Amino acid sequence: MAMLPSKLLFFFSPVFIHLLVLTMAQTNLLQHFCIENHGNFSANSDYKSNLDRLISSFSSDTNNDYGFYTGSFGENIDKAYAISLCRGDKKPETCRSCIKNSSQVLSQLCPNQKEAYIWYDDCMLRYANHTIFNSMEFGPYFWMYNPVNVTDENEFNEVLNALLGRLINFAALGDSRRKFAAGNATAEKSQQTMYALVQCTPDLTQQQCSDCLNQAIKLIPTCCSKRQGGRVVSPSCHFRYEKDPFYDLASTSPLPP
Ligand SMILES: *[C@@H]1O[C@H](CO)[C@@H](O)[C@H](O)[C@H]1NC(C)=O
Ligand SMILES: *[C@@H]1O[C@H](CO)[C@@H](O)[C@H](O)[C@H]1NC(C)=O
Ligand SMILES: *[C@@H]1O[C@H](CO)[C@@H](O)[C@H](O)[C@H]1NC(C)=O
Ligand SMILES: *[C@@H]1O[C@H](CO)[C@@H](O)[C@H](O)[C@H]1NC(C)=O
Ligand SMILES: *[C@@H]1O[C@H](CO)[C@@H](O)[C@H](O)[C@H]1NC(C)=O
Repeated sequence: MAMLPSKLLFFFSPVFIHLLVLTMAQTNLLQHFCIENHGNFSANSDYKSNLDRLISSFSSDTNNDYGFYTGSFGENIDKAYAISLCRGDKKPETCRSCIKNSSQVLSQLCPNQKEAYIWYDDCMLRYANHTIFNSMEFGPYFWMYNPVNVTDENEFNEVLNALLGRLINFAALGDSRRKFAAGNATAEKSQQTMYALVQCTPDLTQQQCSDCLNQAIKLIPTCCSKRQGGRVVSPSCHFRYEKDPFYDLASTSPLPP
């Protein structure tokens, strides 16, 4: 299993903003990892053709409208396993397009690693030569933040933690197709509104999902202290918060109070 202690700090430096603008025309590639010590394959191997068959079955599956794809293909040492998860507010067509793009880009970035991961704003794709279903994987993970600081840190943290706590409880209760929640809250004194979403791969149990997200939000003081926006992204779960709405409000279900 991939348990790399890798974490990457991506902040919005001028260079990064420049890169962001350049890549924005297509999609927003956030991060990728090629796992170097879990096996290699060659371009004409059975593993590679199994992997390609598997992932193209995801992006061509028009019956799936909930944005979570898992499967395996092939036999014995050439068997490939993959998971793809789209952000819970993304439309099925956007989701499939994102998976298709991810697989093309990842096969260029990691041309012969049997295990690899890629994240876009809209979707995540990972694969390996061993089973990756129903298990909580927190690594490899990364974080990002918005460098603008909030004015009242204590109040902001209190309101943010309460919001994320509600979202985690709601998302973890989701079924095997969807574990996702989004919502907003306002810090009264500073009149600062924040918008947040949390999501797990829905193959996790309720407990695994809340463990994963709680592990992610524990990193807030490290990654995103004082920041008006931030996210922590891992293979099994992710959260993000911003001061402006960044998700599709129409596709999120109302949260219980
Ligand atoms: C995955 O590939 C590595 C390296 O080729 C190999 O050592 C390992 O046994 C494979 N895992 C499985 C489950 O086949
Ligand atoms: C896999 O390939 C990379 C370069 O592409 C190489 O550095 C690494 O040693 C190889 N690993 C194995 C187990 O062959
Ligand atoms: C996939 O890539 C194509 C071509 O670069 C682009 O037009 C499209 O918007 C991308 N899809 C997504 C969901 O980003
Ligand atoms: C925000 O706060 C951090 C931590 O105190 C500080 O290092 C950084 O310079 C501040 N950023 C701005 C834009 O004020
Ligand atoms: C903010 O959340 C409330 C429920 O807490 C919801 O009614 C409202 O539509 C949300 N507003 C925005 C802009 O997300």
